[in-house]
Amino acid sequence: MIPQAKIDEIIQAANIEQVIGDYVRLKRRGANLTGLCPFHSEKSPSFSVSPAKGIFKCFGCGKAGNVVNFVMEHDSLGYIPALKHLAEKFNVEWPQQEFVNVDEERKQRDEKESLQILNNWANDYFQDILWQNETGQAVGLSYFENRGFRHDTIKKFNLGFSLDSWSAFFDKAIANQFSEELLFSSGLVKHKEDGKKFDAYRGRVIFPIHNLNGKVIAFAGRYLKKEPNSPKYVNSPETILYHKSNELYGLYFAKNEIRKQDSVYLVEGYTDVISMHQSGVENVVASSGTSLTEGQIRLIKRFTENVTVLFDGDAAGIKASIRGIDMLLEQGLNVRVLTFPDGDDPDSYSQKVGSDAFKEYLETKRQDFIVFKVNLLLNDAGNDPIKKATVTRDIVESISKIPDSIKRSVFVNECARLMSIDEQVLLVELNKLRKQFLTDKDREQQQQQRNTESNDPFEGFEPTPEQGYADDLQDTLNNSSIFDEQERDLIRLIINFANKTVNETETAASYLLRKLIEKEIEIDHPIVTLILDETYHVIERGEIVDDRFFTNHQNPLITALAADMLAREYILSPNWEKRAAVKMDSFFKDTKADIDSAILHLQIKYINKLIVKNQKELKPELSEEDFELHQRVHMDLTKKRNELTKKIGTVIVK
Ligand code: UTP
Ligand code: MN
Repeated sequence: MIPQAKIDEIIQAANIEQVIGDYVRLKRRGANLTGLCPFHSEKSPSFSVSPAKGIFKCFGCGKAGNVVNFVMEHDSLGYIPALKHLAEKFNVEWPQQEFVNVDEERKQRDEKESLQILNNWANDYFQDILWQNETGQAVGLSYFENRGFRHDTIKKFNLGFSLDSWSAFFDKAIANQFSEELLFSSGLVKHKEDGKKFDAYRGRVIFPIHNLNGKVIAFAGRYLKKEPNSPKYVNSPETILYHKSNELYGLYFAKNEIRKQDSVYLVEGYTDVISMHQSGVENVVASSGTSLTEGQIRLIKRFTENVTVLFDGDAAGIKASIRGIDMLLEQGLNVRVLTFPDGDDPDSYSQKVGSDAFKEYLETKRQDFIVFKVNLLLNDAGNDPIKKATVTRDIVESISKIPDSIKRSVFVNECARLMSIDEQVLLVELNKLRKQFLTDKDREQQQQQRNTESNDPFEGFEPTPEQGYADDLQDTLNNSSIFDEQERDLIRLIINFANKTVNETETAASYLLRKLIEKEIEIDHPIVTLILDETYHVIERGEIVDDRFFTNHQNPLITALAADMLAREYILSPNWEKRAAVKMDSFFKDTKADIDSAILHLQIKYINKLIVKNQKELKPELSEEDFELHQRVHMDLTKKRNELTKKIGTVIVK
């Protein structure tokens, strides 16, 4: 990652007057310099440089930016090469790159291959024991049979058995030329404290774990009867082949059916997956007992957005796991849930009632997660007002995780009804939680992506083509259809007036952010959200948002945008006599009124969007309940829009 301090250092050292002066004859005019624009042909100068602000702006062609933007634009360079060019020119030390270690890479690839060969061999071996070995049949196979697994099912999932011997597996593997080191790293063989080796899965039935392509990458071994001091399952450790948090048990066998049905059942255990397959329900995967990870959710999302979570019977367990479900909502999945009678899990229940009854149960008993959660928690809370308040917060928290605004709005409406609460109360809570433009999450994800992409510490910062290369960048900036006018205004207000006080306690920036949080607004443009987000964090840290913060930013689109906004306020167009140029008067205008107006417009815009979306969803094939809900939402929204419109005193064009 390129440190901000390094960027600051380079921009500080790079004299913008000198850099631009190499290509443009600049003449002083007041605090600024002017000249003929190097980016378009002109006879009288429209091009200005403000050395104090470190920015340039052409009032003819619209290009603007800091010194890095200038180099990018002029030399057709990417962001990093432009920075590097300036660092060299002004003798700023450029950090050493780390180079990829080729040997290390090859070694890893070899290790992976060897481990895969061992796993394939072990997979065959354990199945051989189950089907061919006398003890294997008597103990392992009959265990599966007693659980109601059919032979074709056992074969399909490659189930196996490991003899109850300290070293039967180890000896056989060594005889087949596998190295001790490899056996230990696979987790199939372990050391005792005294150094003695033993077969880790001895005396257990084996459930191989397949990756998305059907390769066996790990093993789980279940004991046959309850043994004190011994876990029910022995699982493979993390290896170069197996990263538990990125795998889902059964996905390989389920993926086609998940696509076909456009939905997936999520269960806890290996045996649940297997029994459900046997009952003819093949779109099922298991999280393997732990709560879902983000990696697993991403995996699901590659196949479907509709998840039904199947809970084992007991209420305490359900309450413990519903927290984890918020994560599914957060990733934009549609979540339904289904519980089984006390004491049953999908495995036992499907075996008990048989295939048809089981399928019908799945179809008819599933409920929307939020509705389920409301009912569950309300039951608990009874009439206790304090408990009820906690429930409200809890529910709102779940709703706030849903990225789709129309879905949120539908749920707010529905929950208000279920809980007999004023919708407005829920909305205020919701918007407090939902500082949508302030998501640390996006930033974390971007960061992670950067970190995993390469060993070049700077490479991750090469902006994506759409925001990175000079032409596109300036196009984006000048293309007003990309920025909503009100969004642009928000940014203008922040970049120019962040620290101006607007009332007794707040600066323009904090006032604007508070209003955004309180009102229902959606910001579309990622650059706008990024700027708001960053501003928020700076204020949170108790620091001051100055314009250097924006003109020196890591993202060249932000620096260009900031320069543009600053220039509009600070630099007079060089031929302002001819052109009706920049409005200096805006500097003295009422910033608070500007903010209020921008926010109102954005609110109305957002509601309009919701109305359109809601209308699109209002189709005759909706269930009666859903249909009514959408109608209610429509009425609420139009009422709200009318109120806001009155406030602004303008007619909204539909
Ligand atoms: P369960 O105890 O429900 O196991 O744990 P199960 O697979 O349904 O087995 P049966 O039906 O009781 O025989 C659910 C999942 O939690 C993980 C396994 O992935 C299991 O399938 N687990 C459980 C472990 O990894 N280790 C354990 O010791 C227990
Ligand atoms: Mn179970």
